[in-house]
Formats: sequence, C-alpha cells, structure tokens
Amino acid sequence: MSVDQLEFRRVMGHFATGVTVVTSHDGAGKLGGLTANAVASVSLDPPLLLVCIDKKSDSYPLFDASRSFAVNILANQQETLSRRFAKSGGDKFTGVGYRIGVTGCPILTDTIAFLDCRVRYTFEAGDHTIYVGEAVEIAVGSDADPLLYFRGGYRNLSA
Ligand SMILES: Cc1cc2nc3c(=O)[nH]c(=O)nc-3n(C[C@H](O)[C@H](O)[C@H](O)COP(=O)(O)O)c2cc1C
Repeated sequence: MSVDQLEFRRVMGHFATGVTVVTSHDGAGKLGGLTANAVASVSLDPPLLLVCIDKKSDSYPLFDASRSFAVNILANQQETLSRRFAKSGGDKFTGVGYRIGVTGCPILTDTIAFLDCRVRYTFEAGDHTIYVGEAVEIAVGSDADPLLYFRGGYRNLSA
C-alpha cells in the first residue's frame, strides 16, 4: 500500500514539536538558514544531535561547504522569524540580531537555547540528508515559552 505524500505530512503533523532555525554558512562569508522541526537529540557521549535538510532547499549546499550548523530554538514570540526562515530567497538576516559562533554559523538573539555543531556524520534519506552534528558550544537563553508546531500550525503552551 503506497502512502500519499500529503497524508504523510498531515499525519506526521500530529507529532507536536518545537521550532528551530538551523543556520549555516559557506565558509566564504555567505550565511543561510531555514526553519526546521526535524531535529532530535542523538547521543550524550559525545553530544550529538541531528537535523534533516531538504536537498532542494537553498540552504542545503552550506551544510557540506562549512561542515557545520547551529540549531536556534525559538521562543513563542519568534513566529515572525520562523515564517521568514521558512521561505526561500532574499536576505533572511536583514534586521535580525545574531552573532557568529565558534563554527562560523549565525547564533540568533532572543532564542530560548542554541547548539552550535560540527558535522560528524551524514546519511542520505530520500529527498533529505540527515546531518549529525557534535555540539561544540551550547547555552540556554531567554526563559520565554517555546514556539510549538502542531497540525500544520504554530501553537504555544497555553493554546
Ligand atoms: C514548522 C516548519 C518546520 C520545517 N522543518 C523543516 C525541516 O526539518 N527540514 C527542512 O529541510 N525543511 C523544513 N521546513 C521547510 C523549510 O523551512 C523551507 O523549505 C524553507 O523555505 C527553506 O529555506 P531555504 O530554501 O532558504 O533554505 C520547515 C518549515 C516549517 C514551517
């Protein structure tokens, strides 16, 4: 029995997640990033986490170019930022606060946490590549509630 793509997306949309902006760079000054919720913790020793990146996204080449990425975990008031990074094109960083982390990836301001990572493993998985990174700098930030994503829409903890 084959599974319809839209139905797969709809059903997986019932798995409530946080929302992140995963940033990277090309090693020559070009920054990029995309909104992502296919993010998971993998290992404690060493500290590994994974992100799944669509091969068709504009940001995709950056991950292999720099072999690094930063996961920026968004606060509930950062829905506009999430929408900006969920669209291809334009300079996504104009007017956005950030600093450059130890891997060269942008660390966004006012997030609830970030993990700056160097790529250790990659796995081809259909139309995505799974990048497993080792966290080299991490911190929690604002104590705001998280931005959530559920059934195809943004949510917060109280609604
Ligand atoms: C809530 C949410 C979660 C998303 N999660 C992912 C993800 O895990 N991986 C991915 O490749 N794209 C994900 N996307 C889609 C990308 O954000 C979208 O394709 C974006 O336009 C890519 O930007 P780029 O082409 O500039 O790299 C998600 C979008 C939303 C709204």
